Amino acid sequence: MCGIVAAVTQRNIIDFLLESIQRLEYRGYDSSGLALINKNNNFIRVRCIGKVSQLIKKTKNKKLFGKIGLAHTRWATHGKVSEENTHPHISSHIAIVHNGIIENSFQLRLFLEKQGYIFYSDTDTEVIVHLLHWEQKKTGKSLLEAMHNSLIRLHGNYSMVVMDTHNSSRLIAVCSGSPLIIGLGIGENFIASDQIALLNITKRFIYLKEGDIAIVQPEQTQIFNKHNSIVQRKIIQSDVQYECVKKGKYKHYMEKEIYEQPTSIRNTLKHRLKNNKTIDFPELGVQEKNIFLHLEHIQIVACGTSYHAAMVSKHWFESIANIPCDVEVASEFSSRKLAVRKKSFFITLSQSGETADTLTALRISKKLGYLGNLTICNMKGSSLVQESDNCLLTKAGIEIGVASTKSFTTQLTVLLMLVAKIVSIKQKKNDIEKKIVKILNILPYRIEEILKKNQEIKNIAKKLYHTKNMIFLGRRDQYPIAMEGALKLKEISYIHAEAYPSGELKHGPLALIDKNIPIIITAPNNSLIEKTKKNIQEICSRGGLIYIFSDAEMNLEKNITLFKVPYVEEIIAPIFYIIPLQLLAYYIALSKGTNIDQPRNLAKSVTVE
Ligand code: AGP
Repeated sequence: MCGIVAAVTQRNIIDFLLESIQRLEYRGYDSSGLALINKNNNFIRVRCIGKVSQLIKKTKNKKLFGKIGLAHTRWATHGKVSEENTHPHISSHIAIVHNGIIENSFQLRLFLEKQGYIFYSDTDTEVIVHLLHWEQKKTGKSLLEAMHNSLIRLHGNYSMVVMDTHNSSRLIAVCSGSPLIIGLGIGENFIASDQIALLNITKRFIYLKEGDIAIVQPEQTQIFNKHNSIVQRKIIQSDVQYECVKKGKYKHYMEKEIYEQPTSIRNTLKHRLKNNKTIDFPELGVQEKNIFLHLEHIQIVACGTSYHAAMVSKHWFESIANIPCDVEVASEFSSRKLAVRKKSFFITLSQSGETADTLTALRISKKLGYLGNLTICNMKGSSLVQESDNCLLTKAGIEIGVASTKSFTTQLTVLLMLVAKIVSIKQKKNDIEKKIVKILNILPYRIEEILKKNQEIKNIAKKLYHTKNMIFLGRRDQYPIAMEGALKLKEISYIHAEAYPSGELKHGPLALIDKNIPIIITAPNNSLIEKTKKNIQEICSRGGLIYIFSDAEMNLEKNITLFKVPYVEEIIAPIFYIIPLQLLAYYIALSKGTNIDQPRNLAKSVTVE
């Protein structure tokens, strides 16, 4: 949700700012802007609505020069998409870029207007920059002190970077509930909301912690914690390759990420399978394993695709480990009075580790007496990882497409390993664990096999891309897969799609059935297949158009298209059956010509509640 890049160097940074902010476009792409301090110590600001390519066009012949600067790509929250609302915002000698929401901005705006400030935008960001200016003017002290005083007045989650023409060799960065990292160069330093922006320049990063304020100069950085004491934060050497953030031979990041799934899953399994027989999570301490022995309930909280992965795991926790498991959308979990089960363990799932709803849920859970907590996350150093007692990284690699794909299948991989581990700890025998390890080892090969059937999916997509509505059906552990398939389709093709448990269709949605609403059904050949076949009959007899993804033999009536799914072990069927649905959504969106990697109105990580 909004991308920030800033640099303080000894060279002209215009090209760096443009290139880096373009790499953060997945965080928001309503509008973008940048500001530099030029040789005459004045701000030069360029802003425009639309994608960063528009900003690049607009700056092209301007011969801009500056050794210090800020850039921003916006996902609109306060105020419509317009040039006036685009960052950076300026108050006299101070410029700012900001991510997050200031909840009390309305009151502060009224106060500042009374002090004579004129607002040129509807944003909460302009409130911050005027407040900073007012604080500094009032006390006559440094911008850093003005920042400390201003932060006391700001309510909400945010990260921001400011620069000042009165001291043009330093940036001030603040991190509070929304991520910021410092990239360390040689004689130059950088700030960004995500390491992806800086990977072509440095591999050395400092992840700012909650409440940190950093002063960043070309040769040094100084960090104050929330108690205003100077602190040393660990420098992390990133192992992410710059090449990973390139599309390579693929048209879209989403396509690349779908096809990367066998590799991502292999990376997730790597170093965690002992002698290829049992599972080891070196990240978890002995104490945690003790907790697993005693837990009697699992509560999982997540959003979107991560929530769907959690729903699949509920089935695994209950059917394999016999542990009651509840799953809830994070924003709902945080919106109600909760009754916590006895000996319950709290798990969050997140690709980004920055989803505000999930973070809030974690913070609330800490006051509720859970046995402990664990996050399953793809982003090392993210807020969820920092704030959780324990973390299992999914190791999917950087996911740039707004629609999650490889993060889903690697989350499921980690969850299945966790279920297996907990069963062994609780039952003090590891036969189930050994069986799961064997199946997980085969999984990447199975996925390679189904990815090869892409031409068949392309053919189905050609028949479906002009449709306006679709229904996805699945039973038991395939119901979350139907939900995830429908979400993928909605996100990138803008086709309205609903998911139902197959058995629920006759309780109402059957009224929708006609030849204009294609029905997608995932139905592995297991103990539930006969029930699903009956549902198929119910749809057929009402003239519905059906697309079945199954390894079972089917009676192919004229309205039925069968995509023959290769055989897969029942336990991993949910991980497997999502692959054709991801491809289907992708090829439908491709035929429609939508902006697949940056669908309208969305952002990759949602850092506001
Ligand atoms: C998935 O395609 C979506 N982009 C979205 O639902 C996403 O899964 C959700 O916002 C949660 O994100 P997280 O996994 O980073 O917490």
